[in-house]
Amino acid sequence: MARQKVILPKEGIPRDELLKIMGEARKGDANWQNGRMWSLVNRASDEHTELLKEVFNMFFSENALSPFAFPSLKKFESEVISMTIDLLGGNRRACGSMTSGGTESILLAVKTYRDWARDKFPEIKEPEMILPSSAHPSFEKAAKYFDVKPIYVPVDDKSYRADVKAMKDILSENTILIVGSAPDYPRGVVDPITELGALAKESGIGMHVDACLGGYMLPFARKLGYNIPDF
Ligand SMILES: Cc1ncc(COP(=O)(O)O)c(C=O)c1O
Repeated sequence: MARQKVILPKEGIPRDELLKIMGEARKGDANWQNGRMWSLVNRASDEHTELLKEVFNMFFSENALSPFAFPSLKKFESEVISMTIDLLGGNRRACGSMTSGGTESILLAVKTYRDWARDKFPEIKEPEMILPSSAHPSFEKAAKYFDVKPIYVPVDDKSYRADVKAMKDILSENTILIVGSAPDYPRGVVDPITELGALAKESGIGMHVDACLGGYMLPFARKLGYNIPDF
């Protein structure tokens, strides 16, 4: 299908008209307000959303690029990272950085392991990562961006969790990284993270846990008494 040709208008559009056009355009969008939408919009309550908007507007124009110009943003970032490390059981050497979301976090993790492996295993020319088939598609992007070949292993057909034995069997001299999700995107299942971690440790390779969905949910679900596997 040919691209609809849209060109920059010669004249600006008056404010009210612009708002009207945009309001009309969203009439065909999904109606998430009725609460029947999965995953795309995560909303706690009206009160909470209003607070988020207020905070967002407070810093709408600031730019976290420069911590010297905007030390407040640096402070917030450092505090969130520290809280996250604490929630997820990191030790004093753990560190982090704030990203734009799950995809960027995964891209950075794969790039970091690729660079680490280049340094540690210079003999590996075609690095590979082993993933359960339930891993988020952003690993596929990371694979293409950073030249790390993805090897997918089907999840267990009953529990839908990563099959640790099958992942172990497929390790090769090119494997630099294995992946688990806590939980995964397709089914909300937590992979056997402890076993995957042990496998990575005994093999001397990297392990990334995708906790994009679970990082700020599983610790609290566990506190509420739900039976949450180790993650
Ligand atoms: C488990 C998991 N990983 C990664 C992502 C990607 O996150 P984002 O959409 O913020 O890039 C998602 C998004 O839902 C996810 O559920």
